[in-house]
Amino acid sequence: MRQYIIGNWKMNGTKAEAQKLATTFVKRVTEASRPLPHIVLCPSYPYLTTVAEILKESSLEVGAQDCHPEHRGAFTGDVSAFQLKDVGCSYVIVGHSERRHLHHESNGLIRRKLEAAIKVELRPILCLGESAEEREQGKTFQAISNQLTSDLPLEFTPQDLIIAYEPLWAIGTGITPAPGEVEDIMGFIKHELSVRVTGGALVPILYGGSVTSLNAPTLLNLPHLDGLLVGGASLKLDEFWEIISASSR
Ligand code: 13P
Repeated sequence: MRQYIIGNWKMNGTKAEAQKLATTFVKRVTEASRPLPHIVLCPSYPYLTTVAEILKESSLEVGAQDCHPEHRGAFTGDVSAFQLKDVGCSYVIVGHSERRHLHHESNGLIRRKLEAAIKVELRPILCLGESAEEREQGKTFQAISNQLTSDLPLEFTPQDLIIAYEPLWAIGTGITPAPGEVEDIMGFIKHELSVRVTGGALVPILYGGSVTSLNAPTLLNLPHLDGLLVGGASLKLDEFWEIISASSR
């Protein structure tokens, strides 16, 4: 499977910085002499249209960082999946741990967001992963299985979504699981999906959490890994390009 390298810019940057990153990546992708992975940039809401406009004629795509489950209505401050699609997004991150914890998002809400995105053909990137406490108690696999059960829509096809395994203790900490551990969890998620939906092993599974240009080559060589969801390092031009360039397929 062609890999995915997705940059989650979170609540960072200015319009000028967003323009510079997007313009430079388009130039580098256009000049690249070898096949590249799928590249998706996820700026914050105010910069979506600016970035979408710059990426329009390129192979790069735009994603948002969250969506509301309703199509439209009296939801001050919210943005619907339909609206994101309307301004040129192809992807939306759903259930990021920063939303689950800082905004107290429930599994039920996350499932509704996934359904809303799939309905308008906006491909959701469902984030899940265990906490440090669950890991210490040896409950990693159970925690992931529970999240899959409660978050996944009742009906979906493998092409509808992407899953990003992001262990909470690895996000922004500089600590990453051992490659063998990541590989085991990727294999576990693929197995869990294949028993839940026909062709479930075809759902792309990414890893996220303290990815850098140093650990990316090893991670991207893992047989079960379909790509990376990158936070901080995706805001650094050369660092992110190195991560993209480390993609092996
Ligand atoms: P960092 O790469 O900064 O650890 O963030 C990971 C993340 O949350 C991506 O969604």
